[in-house]
Amino acid sequence: MKKIVVLISGRGSNFVAIQETALREQWEETIGAKIVAVISNRPEAKGLELARGYGIEAVSLDHKLFETREAFEEKLLELVQSYEPDLVVLAGFMRILTEGFVKHFPGKILNIHPALLPSFKGLDTHQRAIDAGVRAHGTTVHFVTAALDGGAIIGQAVVPVLPSDDEHTLADRVLGYEHQLFSRAVKACVEGKIQYVNERAVMDDETALSLTLLAH
Ligand code: GRF
Repeated sequence: MKKIVVLISGRGSNFVAIQETALREQWEETIGAKIVAVISNRPEAKGLELARGYGIEAVSLDHKLFETREAFEEKLLELVQSYEPDLVVLAGFMRILTEGFVKHFPGKILNIHPALLPSFKGLDTHQRAIDAGVRAHGTTVHFVTAALDGGAIIGQAVVPVLPSDDEHTLADRVLGYEHQLFSRAVKACVEGKIQYVNERAVMDDETALSLTLLAH
């Protein structure tokens, strides 16, 4: 069985979308994969409760209880490694991971970023997209490296920015596509359809097309 560990910090809607897809498509039986644990750096994260509701192990590791980023990461590494994951999924995990963590999982950590990378790295992406006046915005799933929002791109979903949008309406539109894109990307990775080679995401055309979503 391929084991997926999900890291979150908050509401966990991307985790739920992936888990619901896994249940609907019966990943355990069809591709031999399942989410084995959800870990949050914030004890109050709603996603933890949601994970328990699915019978998934939910663990909180409060980063505020550690004096340094390194000390937190060391403990997080130990915890994640204890599940022997095939894939580590950052689903709204709001801590930067350094080389000390990511070097242990080359090509095995995915993140979702709410913008079309390499534009709008970092925070407040929706407001920044509106302020910049872009017509197309969206979301990106990428491999995680120590460079912030900088690893190889796996898939993207493009949504329009409408004149009537504020950051909330735009965030809602993007989120719906995050859920679809992330579920597909996680599945393709555990199916072995995407390889991490020379810091690139390598896949065939069919897989690439399935990971390019265009909203009309
Ligand atoms: C998403 O917008 C994701 O792109 C960003 O944080 C948000 C997490 O939302 N990194 P949720 O916790 O999955 O609902």
